[in-house]
Amino acid sequence: MPDSYPEWPSGEQVHQYLDEYVKHFGLDALLQLNTEVVSIELDEVAGNIWTIGTRQSDNNKDSSMPILATQSETFDHVVIANGIFSDPYVPTFPGLEEFQQAGGQVLHTTDVHQLLGDATGKHFVIVGYGRSACDVACALSDISSNKVVVVARELIWKIPKWIGGLLNFKYLLLTRMGEALFQYIHPHGFEQFLHNGLGKPLRDLMMSSLQAIITCQLKLRKLGLLPDGPLEDIARTTLSLVTDGFYEKVEMGAIEVHGGTHIVKLCVIDGKPSTLLSDGTIVPTDFVICGTGFHQSVPFFSMNIIKQLTDDQGNFLLYRHIHPINVPQLSFNGYNSSLFCPLSSEVAALWIANLLAGGMKLPSPNKQQLEVIEQLAWTEKRTKGKHACGGSIIPFTFHYIDELLKDMNLTLNAHTHIREWLLPINFGAYVGLIDELMKRLASEGKITFPLC
Ligand SMILES: NC(=O)c1ccc[n+]([C@@H]2O[C@H](COP(=O)([O-])OP(=O)(O)OC[C@H]3O[C@@H](n4cnc5c(N)ncnc54)[C@H](OP(=O)(O)O)[C@@H]3O)[C@@H](O)[C@H]2O)c1
Repeated sequence: MPDSYPEWPSGEQVHQYLDEYVKHFGLDALLQLNTEVVSIELDEVAGNIWTIGTRQSDNNKDSSMPILATQSETFDHVVIANGIFSDPYVPTFPGLEEFQQAGGQVLHTTDVHQLLGDATGKHFVIVGYGRSACDVACALSDISSNKVVVVARELIWKIPKWIGGLLNFKYLLLTRMGEALFQYIHPHGFEQFLHNGLGKPLRDLMMSSLQAIITCQLKLRKLGLLPDGPLEDIARTTLSLVTDGFYEKVEMGAIEVHGGTHIVKLCVIDGKPSTLLSDGTIVPTDFVICGTGFHQSVPFFSMNIIKQLTDDQGNFLLYRHIHPINVPQLSFNGYNSSLFCPLSSEVAALWIANLLAGGMKLPSPNKQQLEVIEQLAWTEKRTKGKHACGGSIIPFTFHYIDELLKDMNLTLNAHTHIREWLLPINFGAYVGLIDELMKRLASEGKITFPLC
């Protein structure tokens, strides 16, 4: 990104960067925008050819709209990259109809920007305690003259951008040392020492000190926002960073958090739309805003394909979070949501390219299946089921990238590896690996090089 960008770029800056990226690499011709994929069908008889049905999209998400002017094209291989945060989830609440008739509205956090100008004097209830819920609570409390009420069924830990006001969070979350504080499925070497050897007291001390610093810095005890479990519970589908100003606004009374609470029902009190919470509080409510996350869905596939892609709980059975074991000529990217997605997704893209070029052989389907099931069971246990249907690898991004590189027989240079133990990941150090792989594939006659 441009040097002029700040440490934490805004949404507009990231968008601008992506625009420039497309121009710089001449990708426009490869992109077919404003196009919605409505069906993806496999023709096994014709030799595993995919037919993709699309329609012009007007960004109108209203599914009752008729599907106009669909087109279809065939392809040899399909990569699904529809994101694990793209299909907003809104829970159903008892009393919704009566609430709406009295003028109340229920929205998802993704819909909020459209009502920002209309927020003054309105009453807001925000459901959820993830990053979206806290970001939206802060933004609305800047505009509304009423206190914003946050309903969190579980209080979770959040990491400040500056830990203790001194240490940039990236030294904790974007280093191998930080990752090693969490126990991987099969710890080796130094990690074995940290979790199961003589180093365990040291590791436990580091975690408890960190927890104490964060508790004190965010005044969690005073604000009544101390989560029940230990800090290491933070590693789930996502790992939440503190929204700037959130805890300060709670302290000032502009935001009121009801922890361990849920909405019992939406109702009408004295003719005004309201919300009844499980702690007995009744809150006047013009808008319920659901920061309740996202569904993980692939609606363009038939039920038959979905059954082959997922287990009974709807978890995706993907080897390395990329490769479906039972469906041919298909890959996924982005179902490896991590703490540094640009790199984990790019290395996964390289992995897919290498597989398609015939540059590596995968274990037998049986072995892949056993590994995927073992990983899912471990993830389910450590995240208490919060892993986006198997679509998140948080916090183990370094481990994951190392595994992909090993599959491709690529080795990170020792200097970078050692540096990453204490210093945050530097994406630039990985650039040479692309050239190395491309040259190898070209020398084996598997691709024509250079690619354009
Ligand atoms: N500025 C930024 O960089 C930024 C901003 C927004 C989001 N993000 C990222 O986007 C991703 C999605 O974040 P998100 O906050 O939208 O979703 P999320 O992290 O999945 O959080 C969802 C929240 O909704 C709650 N919830 C879910 N279903 C519920 C229900 N039926 N009733 C009550 N509460 C319910 C969850 O509670 P439980 O914990 O009890 O399940 C959780 O608190 C994350 O990776 C996040 O870091 C980043």
